[in-house]
Amino acid sequence: MQSIVFIGFMGVGKTTIGQKVAKKLYREFIDIDHEIEQEFNMPTTEIFKKFGEKAFREKEKEVINRFSQQKLKILSLGGGAFLQEDVRTICLSNCIVIYLDLSWDYWKERIGLLIDSRPVLQNKSLVEIEELFKARQEVYSYHHTKVITDNLEVDEVADYIVDSLKVTWNIEPLN
Ligand code: S3P
Repeated sequence: MQSIVFIGFMGVGKTTIGQKVAKKLYREFIDIDHEIEQEFNMPTTEIFKKFGEKAFREKEKEVINRFSQQKLKILSLGGGAFLQEDVRTICLSNCIVIYLDLSWDYWKERIGLLIDSRPVLQNKSLVEIEELFKARQEVYSYHHTKVITDNLEVDEVADYIVDSLKVTWNIEPLN
């Protein structure tokens, strides 16, 4: 069975929801940013500072390429991963890609929680962040299915995804 890949802008809940879905389906969860951090042995912000975004993106592609070939995994990708055409192609051909779609109005309420740990948000005004948010929507349009998460709790989103996968795959996860 193919792996599932979560995409979407920073802070939409890819990791939290991905972990819940993995638990409910008894599958292994892989956070791609975490894997990249392990390989560099430093946090993302440090990788950006020391080696630059290009090096981060190269490693990101390599790690995604590796994990997306494996079966039965639940992968959470960084919000910029789908900027790379190769990454989109690899994921769309090997995995089921789920886009977590949160609107700007809901997203901007979370900004305080994200800014320190997200290098691409640093030194940007709210207007610039909104521009980035809107510009990124284009790459997220490459997906198999999407869930609009405005107004939904994390568990509601995870349950919805698990239920739709059960219908598609005709599987019965053990709860
Ligand atoms: C990035 C998103 C981050 C992380 C890196 C770059 C981006 O992941 O990969 O800071 O360019 O959108 P999250 O989406 O998990 O925050």
